[in-house]
Amino acid sequence: KGRVFSGARPTGRQHLGNYLGAIKNYVALQDEYNCVYCIVDVHALTTVETTQNLRQNTIEMALDWLAAGIRPEESIVFIQSHVPEVMELHTYLSMVTPLGKLTDLPTFKEKIRLHPNNVNYGLVGYPVLMSADILLYRASAVPVGVDQAPHIEFARETVRSFNFRYNCDVLVEPQMKITQVPKVIGIDGVQKMSKSLDNHIEIAATAEETQKRVMQMVTDPQRQRRSDPGNPDVCNVFSFHKIFSTPEEVEMVNTECRKAGIGCVDCKKMLAKNLNASLAPFRARRAELEKDTDAVWDVLMDGAKRARVIAEETMTDVRQAIGLP
Ligand code: TYM
Repeated sequence: KGRVFSGARPTGRQHLGNYLGAIKNYVALQDEYNCVYCIVDVHALTTVETTQNLRQNTIEMALDWLAAGIRPEESIVFIQSHVPEVMELHTYLSMVTPLGKLTDLPTFKEKIRLHPNNVNYGLVGYPVLMSADILLYRASAVPVGVDQAPHIEFARETVRSFNFRYNCDVLVEPQMKITQVPKVIGIDGVQKMSKSLDNHIEIAATAEETQKRVMQMVTDPQRQRRSDPGNPDVCNVFSFHKIFSTPEEVEMVNTECRKAGIGCVDCKKMLAKNLNASLAPFRARRAELEKDTDAVWDVLMDGAKRARVIAEETMTDVRQAIGLP
């Protein structure tokens, strides 16, 4: 079996973008791979203003992962800072990384746009630490949303630079794995779903909250009145119907919307109902797990122990390849 690695920043409760773009694949890939899933608390430090919520956000995210179907008996689930070898590998990788490549990345430009007053050294090195995450576990595949594509490409190039520079083959080039919905659009109908843009729907939300958020979704902007015909092809609500509704319902919405047979309010109510039905088993499992968060911390501690064994093996090879005395 090959190995899969993925990580996510502890942003607390996960949204449909995280779920459809990444978590769904974390779960599916467990059948074929040995999987390592990491809560990247150190990456979170590059942008958070306060660490006050870090603990709570970590457990909330872990609860979502486990309730979604990550099986910690098989897969390793852990917190990044618990395996400090990653910081060491990050430093070595930084020596084969041209600075200009980091500052040219679209993800870096986006981050400085969002956090213009906090462009720290760690933020520039974000992709190097992310590469260290993946390479430390010599993962062959990395499930992520498409927004992470430049980082995965960067990690692949880093492997080539490192192996070339030290004339070795200790690091492994990872492949990117994307889902059928690699980019989920937020309720604004325009930007990618994200917590920082507050255009998200949490998978662990109550049925009422979910309905409320769905009712706020922006539809076809050309459709001003109920009597106007709509265009499902440009409507984000329709994109979600294609995922959560039956083929018959999708067909019905598709035809009726175009001739103003169904209004946006009814269309959204239908989506909210289907979304809630689809998430109900997940929410029930989460409610069970919430009763014993100590057990979730135990999972994370055990994960770190298992992760560290792999990390130490890689680092022994890495130090030797570099020629450290
Ligand atoms: P993060 O924490 O922003 O997001 C976690 C995962 O969710 C995906 N995602 C989305 N997918 C589709 N549509 C969306 N609207 C959407 N929003 C989020 C992300 O693509 C990601 O897969 N840099 C990473 C964390 C990281 C990492 C790693 C990932 C650190 N080290 C090593 C993979 C391997 C990040 O900030 O993801």
